[in-house]
Amino acid sequence: VKRAIYFVTGTNTGVGKTVVTCLLARHLHDQTGSAVALKPLCSGGREDAKLARAASGKTLTLDETNPWHFRLPLSPLLAARRERRKLLLTQVVSHIRKIHKRFSILIVEGAGGLLSPMGEDFDSRDLIRKLHAKPIIVCADQLGAINQVRLVMNALPKETSGRAKIVLMSPKRPDLASRSNRLLLQEMFGMNQVHVLPWLNDPYELDGCLKRAAVRRTIDSLI
Ligand SMILES: Nc1ncnc2c1ncn2[C@@H]1O[C@H](COP(=O)(O)OP(=O)(O)O)[C@@H](O)[C@H]1O
Ligand SMILES: [Mg+2]
Repeated sequence: VKRAIYFVTGTNTGVGKTVVTCLLARHLHDQTGSAVALKPLCSGGREDAKLARAASGKTLTLDETNPWHFRLPLSPLLAARRERRKLLLTQVVSHIRKIHKRFSILIVEGAGGLLSPMGEDFDSRDLIRKLHAKPIIVCADQLGAINQVRLVMNALPKETSGRAKIVLMSPKRPDLASRSNRLLLQEMFGMNQVHVLPWLNDPYELDGCLKRAAVRRTIDSLI
């Protein structure tokens, strides 16, 4: 199995990063037997980490999946400061590297959007750079998506933007904007880099979703 770290980030919080992380984790876990998802930082509840852990066949403990969690639903930096705690880039990088010694493939979910402050000296961009990770940019497929995706693509470390993938998350009811975003973004960034994930049932069930051809195709295109 080819070693890789996928880093799932996005244009904002609430766009579908956890959904994409869990679909990728379940698929790669089933396919390779050596893939796990991590959610290194949580603020305001550990729900994302529990979902990431379950998607990875509960291979890791919750504390391995999510070593740092802060009470308040703020960006991790601010939530940590409210608890008088400090987190540095090197701490997070060494935890991720330690887990990567045990598993070939990691799927790491960031917190918030690409430039949301995570600790005293870093954000998701710094983690992507340090880990040589493959960025996956999740964005809600609605009016405004093109600007948001371009902003994030421009902010990515230069050496990683060429292999970044963009996932447009379909709304329940596609509109004029969502029908045209994909085509323009593909024109800008390439066919291979832009993919659409259909709307899933709410609540969604991972194995059922992965049986849908359109979901499967998108997940396969990201790896
Ligand atoms: N394609 C989709 N189909 C159905 N529900 C979705 C889809 N994308 C996101 N959601 C829902 O939107 C909410 C936010 O998604 P989530 O993955 O938690 O975002 P993030 O991790 O970026 O904060 C969740 O309730 C999730 O189930
Ligand atoms: Mg999330």
